[in-house]
Amino acid sequence: MQRAKIISTGSYVPSKRLTNGDLERMVDTSDKWIMERTGIKERRIVAEGENTSDLAYEASKIALLRAGISADSLDLIIVATVTGDMPIPATACFLQSRLGADNAAAFDVNAACSGFLFGLSAANAYIKSGMYRRVLLVGAEALSRFTDWEDRNTCVLFGDGAGAVIVEASDGQSGVMSVDIHSDGNYWELLNMPGGGSKYPPSAPSEEAAANRLYYIKMKGNETFKIAVRTLEKLVLDALEKNGLKASDIALLVPHQANLRIISATASRLGIGMDRVMVNLDRCGNTSAASIPIALDEAASGGRIKDNDYVLLEAFGGGLTWASAVIRW
Ligand code: COA
Repeated sequence: MQRAKIISTGSYVPSKRLTNGDLERMVDTSDKWIMERTGIKERRIVAEGENTSDLAYEASKIALLRAGISADSLDLIIVATVTGDMPIPATACFLQSRLGADNAAAFDVNAACSGFLFGLSAANAYIKSGMYRRVLLVGAEALSRFTDWEDRNTCVLFGDGAGAVIVEASDGQSGVMSVDIHSDGNYWELLNMPGGGSKYPPSAPSEEAAANRLYYIKMKGNETFKIAVRTLEKLVLDALEKNGLKASDIALLVPHQANLRIISATASRLGIGMDRVMVNLDRCGNTSAASIPIALDEAASGGRIKDNDYVLLEAFGGGLTWASAVIRW
């Protein structure tokens, strides 16, 4: 049976750092509060003129180079993002053009922080069906452009960056073992950005948009936190059971990087020590759809994942959406 195998990874984060100390000068917060409640120390911020597709391009170039393949051999490009360059066209189209991936179809996926795993689910299905053999899957975000820098509840959380993987049809034992994706739109109000769509288009009264700051990301953090912990605990145990694996079989857990307390709670429920958990949110913050592929690239290129290792990925985000994947590397 053909499997979808990740044959290479790449990532890119902008050079500008925004530290908790910087945020102390912007809103009523403290390094101590941010560290204790989230585990985030600093995050990266896009430069002026640098857009989501630019981050995606840099990460993709590395993944292509490491795979030793050219962009024109790609059948499909999927970009997971909630902060694309423009509503039209898809950011994946900008990326396709920049890479010269002339033979690839290209589209975006919006599943917020779970976007990369929703994209992986699509790539996996295309490859297993035989429709495509080689897919470039990217998670890329410029969240800082949609962050309300006057709202201390959210502005301390987010960062910018991109991670990319090349997924290819393979006959071997290794590859994606399972991807499970879930949504519950009843909870859409917990995490959203209301402006820019058909509900609040540019023609909507500007006083309304300004008063509600509709073009910024809003989150009911504490409620989201509680549902995330509960949901992720079940999600990861289900993923193990589905694959007939024990927690001790997992070489590395690569979670979405939203909050260190959520990550530790999930790891502890699994009985996995933090030495087997990939954490980079102290340096990157929450980069939404980019968070798992950046963390995965850091783990893979840093030698933390070896051939045939089982890696467990999990995410939770706006929608609400949540997802897991088990990969044999
Ligand atoms: N600095 C200082 N105080 C802050 C603050 C900040 N940056 N942000 C909020 N506070 C205050 C609140 O106003 C509140 O004060 P009050 O008790 O006087 O009302 C207090 O800290 C506690 O706020 P709360 O929201 O209950 O904190 P929390 O422990 O839930 O942590 C988050 C907040 C956002 C870090 C946490 O809820 C979280 O990570 N949420 C879920 C994230 C997630 O998984 N999202 C989905 C994927 S993106």
